[in-house]
Formats: sequence, C-alpha cells, structure tokens
Amino acid sequence: MTKKCRGILIPVAALTLALIPAAALAQAPAGGAAQPEPKKAEEVFKNIQVLKGVPADQIIPAMQFIAASLGVECTYCHVEHAFDKDDKETKKTARKMMEMMFAIDKDNFSGRQDVTCYSCHHGVAKPAAIPEIAAAMPAPQPAHGEGMGGRMEGGEKAPASMANLPTAQQVLEKYVQALGGAEALDKISSRVEKGTLSGFGGKTFPVEIYAKAPEKRISIVHMPDNEMYTAFDGQSGWLTGFGGRIQDMEGADLYAARLDADFRCLSDARKVFRQVRMAKPEKVDDRGAWVLLGITPGQPPVKLYFDKESGLLLREMRYAQTPVGRYPTQVDYADFREADGVKGPFRWTIARPGNSFTIQVSEIQQNVPVDDSKFAKPAAPPEQKPATP
Ligand code: HEC
Ligand code: HEC
Repeated sequence: MTKKCRGILIPVAALTLALIPAAALAQAPAGGAAQPEPKKAEEVFKNIQVLKGVPADQIIPAMQFIAASLGVECTYCHVEHAFDKDDKETKKTARKMMEMMFAIDKDNFSGRQDVTCYSCHHGVAKPAAIPEIAAAMPAPQPAHGEGMGGRMEGGEKAPASMANLPTAQQVLEKYVQALGGAEALDKISSRVEKGTLSGFGGKTFPVEIYAKAPEKRISIVHMPDNEMYTAFDGQSGWLTGFGGRIQDMEGADLYAARLDADFRCLSDARKVFRQVRMAKPEKVDDRGAWVLLGITPGQPPVKLYFDKESGLLLREMRYAQTPVGRYPTQVDYADFREADGVKGPFRWTIARPGNSFTIQVSEIQQNVPVDDSKFAKPAAPPEQKPATP
C-alpha cells in the first residue's frame, strides 16, 4: 500500500556534512548497506582516548553537540586539518569535562544523559557561576486569580493533560484525511519538485527533488561550484560532499534519510516505527498540537507534532544519539497545498543548533516516470587516501 504526500525530502545530511571540514570526513568509514559491524571510534580516528567503544558514526554528531553547547567553532579545540592533534589546551580540558560529565550522570542520574555539556555551558565556553541580576528578577507579573485551588487550565503543565487524549490511530487517521485520504494518496507513484533552498547567511540555491514510492528519493542542490546529492534508494543512503566525493550514510543520518524518503509522509507511522505512543500535547508556535512518539529500537524516539485543528504534520523532532547527549534536528512543515487531490507541504525548514535552511517548492509534477537508476549510487571516484598524515 502506498499512501503519499509530498515534499519531505531533506538534504540534512549533505548540508550538515558540508559544514564539517573535509579532513574529518576523509577518515569516516565507507560502511556498506549490508549492516556491517559498526566500527568503533578508535578504529576510525587516530587519537580517541575518552570516547573509546563509541560507534564511529557518532563522533561527528558528538562534536557538533559539543560545539553547539559551548557556542564555539571546531577550531576552538582543534588545529585546522589535524583533528587528532592535542595542541590546544581546550581540547585537553574537554576530555576532562567528558570524564566529569559521565561521572556526574553515572553517580547521580542512573547513567542517563541528564547533565550534558549544555546543562552547564548553555552556549558559552565559560559557564557563569553567579546568577545574573537581570535574569534573577523577572518583571513583576499582573496578579492572577489563581486562588488556593491551584486551578490549572488545559495548559501543558496540568497533570490532567494526558487524560482525554485521542489515540495515536485517531491522530494518524485524521492526518491521512487531511492529506486527501488513502485513496487519493495511493494514486501518486512519483513526484518531481523544483524550488529553492535558502539559508546559510541568506544564500539561495536551486534544488530539485525526485521521489518514487514507496521510499526512494534524491535531492540535488545546485551550488555555484558543484552539486550536492542526498539520496536514499530504498535500502541505503549516499551523498556527495566536497569535490564530488561520495559518501555512504550511516547511523542517525541513514535513519533520518529513510524517514524523509517515506512516501506516506509518516502517515503510516504505526508501520514505520516499532511502536507509536501519545505524549503530552504541546504548542508549535501558537497552534495546539498532538504529539506522537515514534519508537525504533536503537534510536532516540522521533517526536511528531500534528495540528489539532487541521490534522496536518507541523513538526518533526529527531535526535542523533551521541556519547555526550542527543543532537537535535527540527523540521517544520508549512505552506500545505493541494496537487492532484493530495495535500503536502510546499515549504519546510530544517533547523539544528546554530544553523537552519528552508526549502520552498515552486513547481511540482506527479506520476511522471522516474527511473530507478536516478537513485543509484554512482561508481566511486578514484580511491582517496585519508587526508591526515
Ligand atoms: C570543546 C572542544 C571541542 C570542540 C569544540 C570540538 N572538538 Fe572534536 N574533539 C575534542 C576532543 C576532546 C576529542 C578527543 C576525544 C577523545 O579523546 O575521546 C575530539 C576528537 C575529534 C575528532 C577525532 C580526531 C582523531 O583522529 O582522533 C574529530 C574528527 C573531531 N574531534 C572533529 C571535530 C569537529 C568537526 C568539530 C566541530 C564541529 C569539533 N571536533 C569540535 C574536542 C572538541
Ligand atoms: C557540571 C558543569 C559542567 C559540565 C557538565 C561541563 N562543563 Fe565544561 N566547564 C565548566 C566550568 C565551570 C568551566 C570553567 C570555566 C572557567 O574556567 O571560567 C568549564 C570549562 C570548560 C572548558 C574550558 C573553556 C576555556 O576557554 O577555558 C571547555 C573546553 C569545556 N568546559 C568543555 C566542556 C565539554 C566538552 C563538556 C561536555 C562533555 C563540558 N564542558 C561539560 C562546567 C561544566
């Protein structure tokens, strides 16, 4: 069965990787599609002392998490093009900080990642030890008639907010209806979209997206000097980075690519995830939203936010597990329009700590032939040696 919406392909991985110096990526393993034993960090990188035993594909997300938590660039701790070197004092401090943090969580929080770099650092390299006066003295609030009864209105904080929830099935059925109904969705077998990607300091690039049911998808971003591909062929994912270097997707990136490629726009969440569960309702901007948790073993739960009124998917929050905390990605969907009897977002914004970009679709064609070869990984370019000596 193929129920479809449109426009959810997201070149997150490619663009994330574009932000990372090539030297770091040159060392990443070229894992295949057939689920090889995941390589450990110390087997792939040269100078891992604390993060031994961690899957290698979690190292870069962990570094992004750390940089975002401290509000710094990679070069705050690393010498350019030599990530294994220990020349900077800050890198050595960071190792001690990791040990300290693991100990805090182990000794006080049953090993959960409750205290992370961000808990103390909050976006600065040197955490403040003394509360700010301005922050400690909020502006006086007008008196509320809250009384002794502690009355709580249907807000998020009310303990009763988990009562009277619709079931996950009801939320998903409403979503399918909002998209145009299962029958209309079933009639869409392929989709070609053209539009723009904007972000990264106000720059705009043309983008094309080809998708084919049930879960094949490729996006092509036309940069000034090259093209950035992000593809999922139904089994494995690949992308191109600098100089046309082709890279297999792994770990959290691969998981995300599969979700993005779902032609059913996650309206079949009960099949996509091992389990779905209702969570506490929240707000997305000022719209009330039902929140559904999609659970896959080995991955942090994905949070899906559905508009209480329209039933449409407003937001997806997903997380890359790293040894130092969960690195978040937020995808917001907007500008839902109808084409061929099916609704879908014409705009979506992908945000991570410190960066975000938006794709706006301007042209769409559906049920046009798209050959499978479109999604196939091109032959590898000439062998490249790891960049660092
Ligand atoms: C606050 C300091 C800090 C920041 C910022 C930081 N790193 Fe690291 N990085 C470390 C530490 C510490 C290690 C070593 C971890 C260990 O020994 O287990 C490391 C290791 C690495 C390694 C493995 C190098 C090798 O071959 O052993 C890579 C690659 C890396 N970092 C990339 C990055 C990238 C990319 C960024 C920016 C997104 C970044 N780092 C930001 C502290 C930092
Ligand atoms: C329990 C609180 C806490 C946690 C958790 C924590 N830090 Fe820190 N960190 C501090 C404090 C306090 C300082 C000292 C600031 C100063 O010297 O003024 C510091 C300093 C640092 C410095 C040195 C900054 C400089 O410019 O001298 C680095 C680098 C650093 N932390 C990295 C990390 C990383 C990476 C993590 C997560 C793995 C982390 N910290 C987790 C509290 C924390």
